[in-house]
Parts: sequence; structure tokens; C-alpha cells
Amino acid sequence: MSEFSYRNGELHAEQRAVADLAAVVGTPFYCYSTAAIEQSYRAFHGALAGLDATICYAMKANSNLAVVKTLAALGAGADVVSGGELQRALAAGVPPQKIVFSGVGKSAGELVAALEQGIHQINVESAPELALLSQLATARDITAKVALRVNPDIDAGTHAKITTGTKANKFGVDIDHAPDLYAVARDLPGIRAVGIAVHIGSQITNLPPFHAAFARVAALVSLLRQQGHDITRLDLGGGLGIAYRDEPPPSLTDYAAIVRETVADTGCSLTFEPGRCIVGNAGILVSRVLLVKENAGRRFVIIDAAMNDLTRPAMYDAWHNILPVVEPDPKAAPTATDVVGPICESSDTFATERALPPLAAGDLIIFTGAGAYGAVMASTYNSRPLIPEIMVRGAAHGVVRRRQTMAEMLAQDSLPDWLRTSAGTAAKPVEVS
Ligand code: LLP
Repeated sequence: MSEFSYRNGELHAEQRAVADLAAVVGTPFYCYSTAAIEQSYRAFHGALAGLDATICYAMKANSNLAVVKTLAALGAGADVVSGGELQRALAAGVPPQKIVFSGVGKSAGELVAALEQGIHQINVESAPELALLSQLATARDITAKVALRVNPDIDAGTHAKITTGTKANKFGVDIDHAPDLYAVARDLPGIRAVGIAVHIGSQITNLPPFHAAFARVAALVSLLRQQGHDITRLDLGGGLGIAYRDEPPPSLTDYAAIVRETVADTGCSLTFEPGRCIVGNAGILVSRVLLVKENAGRRFVIIDAAMNDLTRPAMYDAWHNILPVVEPDPKAAPTATDVVGPICESSDTFATERALPPLAAGDLIIFTGAGAYGAVMASTYNSRPLIPEIMVRGAAHGVVRRRQTMAEMLAQDSLPDWLRTSAGTAAKPVEVS
């Protein structure tokens, strides 16, 4: 059941009225439900019962400290893809022994930080990265535990921009040439290649590509073992999709059955890196209608959130359900509506000709499915400050990220010597809400 539902005609996040939260922080803002995060983590964990599995939550989906800490308290580890995410994981209390570091291009500084923290595993994606890691580890007298990420050349059947497991993608090493890299790894000082990692894409709603990829990985385990490699770990990545509309979500039980069928008898310990399916439906974006305008027969609802706050519709043509915060009268006829933000480009569109109940200036609306790849992908385009994030637990709330101020944004810019004297630079920034 969704933790975002109408009670007495008003949309609530758990037991808290969304309109109430809007009065606290102003709009737009993100709102997360603790119960929803916990439920989806427990569901994923439960589906894998009996397997030797660690869930390393993919922090890229939502790296807010409160979100990561909520998951860490349930026993989750973290999948990080940058030095920044590593810092956040540690700050949220994720033990280094439960952190894996993925990513196609890690800097020497990031690898050193991972080595010095003694994290569980570094997922290496290329020969040059392996060589660099060997050098860095040897210089510090450390042995890095490594999984090589393979590219199984399997199309995940998802949006092209979030497909990662085909030959056309930059990720991993070609699975057919992986044995060569394991042979190299064996002879490199400072490296112990203990595992194989794979991740074929995101928002995967059709499960057969997982089956194909995991089966290929299992076959590689046998081959590498024949060649004398001691492969003890598999990292099966993330990618399991969620329902954004009203379709049934992909089945966790079926996903887990595929895991059992393909890799369980390798005897390897398993790591999973789910992101979206843990937090995606645990968050909403709340926005207020600025004005409604009709243009050549089209109805535009212009809201105070924009593509810089929630990028997914502009970037992937993603669909997010839109609900008014005040429950609409069931008798009110829906109208074809374009919901758009104030940014000066046409891609700043959240919905086109969407059948929506009547909306007027001042109304609050929410976008569902905004817990994953929402706040983390925000920018300050058009000099719009980053918006706040609120976490709810029962009837309680915490502001888990406050709104960025104009003063903070301006303070990050500086002027070169030759412009420093001009008038206007000393003006006190005005905070606009
Ligand atoms: N592991 C690796 C190596 C990944 O690259 C990703 C996602 C994940 C795990 C987590 O995948 P998930 O379980 O969340 O599907 N911004 C896009 C999604 C990009 C996903 C990138 N990699 C979106 O808004 O749809």
C-alpha cells in the first residue's frame, strides 16, 4: 500500500498532511516516507531469504543522509560511485565492510579513499583501472579485493539512456575477453580478483534479461574456476524496475527465483545493488500551481517546480503520476492538461495532454515515484536554489535537507581581479520564495 494516500479528502504522507509540510518549508520540496523505505527494503531482503546475500543500496538513487541512515539501520550496505557517495555512506554509518565501489571512471584520489577505508570491494571496469589500482594498493601495502565488472551484451529492454549491458555501452569488460583480464589480475601485486560484477540497466520491468545475464555470469564462474581462479563473490547489480503508473510492478519473488536458478549453486556470496526499487515509490515531489493559462486551445498548468528539480520527464520522457493534494471531486470531469515548469525551454514539461482534475492557481499537487533519481539529479539551472527534502515518520517530520539560499549560491561564484571593483557586487542577496 502506498504511504501517500488521501485521508479525509487530503493527501497525507504517512500520518502527516502534505499541505502542512508545505506550510513548514514552502514549495517545491521532496517528501520521503520512512515506512515506505523500510517496507521496500524488507520486501527485497525477504525475497532473498536463504541466500548468502548482502544488499548494498545504490546511493545514486537517493543519497540523502537520512535515507541512507534509515537503510543502514536495517542492515543495508551501500553501492557508491564516487568519492562523494563514499563520504556520505560513511557519514550515514554504513560500515566500510558493506560498501562496494562501482563506476566506469574512478580517479586515483577516489580509489585511494576506498583503499584507505578498507571497503568490501572495488568493482573494476577496465584494464587501465586495474593497473592503476594495483599501483595505488601496492604503494600502500594493501591488497584490494576486486570484482571485475563484465558486460554480458544483453539488452535489458529499458530506456536507451539507462541501458548499460550491451556492447554499445561504455560499461564493464566484454564478457568474452574477461578471462584475459582475470589472468592479468592474478599476476598483479596488490590485487585479489575475488568476484564478478554485472549490471545491465535500470528500470527493468521484464525479467528475462536478468536471467540471461546471470546465466552468462554463472557460466563465467565455471570457466574461471577451471582456469584456477578462486571466484567467491558475485555482484548482481541493481536495475529492478518499479511501477510508475498503475501497472503491476515486476515481481520480487520471480526476480529472486531467477537468482536462485542461475547462480545459487555457484556457492558464491551475492551482492545486490538496488536503488530505485528501494526508494522510488517512497518519495514525492510537492509543488504549487503558479497559474493556469490557455493558449490556442491548450491548457497549461504552470507550477513552481521545474526540470531542474525533477529531471526525469525531460531527460527520459519519464511518466510520474500527478495528484492534487486536495482529493478531487469524483464528479469533476478530467481535462487534458499540460503541466509545465517555469524554465525557459520547452523540455521543462512534466506531462502533456494528461487527463487531470481541475487545477487552479495556488493548488498543491504531487508527483509520485520521485524518491529515486529526483533530488539527486537536481541542478540550479536558471539560478533556482536546490529545494528542501523532508522525511516523515508517522506524524513526525524532519527537514533532512534545507532549501539552498541565494546567498549560498552567490557565495560560490567569485570575480576575477579586474571585475572586482564594479558596483552591485556588494548588494545583499534577496531570498525569494
Ligand atoms: N548498480 C550500478 C552499477 C548502476 O549503474 C545502477 C544505476 C544501480 C546499481 C542502481 O540501479 P537501480 O536499481 O536504481 O535501477 N537516472 C536514471 C537511472 C540511472 C541508473 C544508473 N545506474 C533514471 O532516473 O531513470
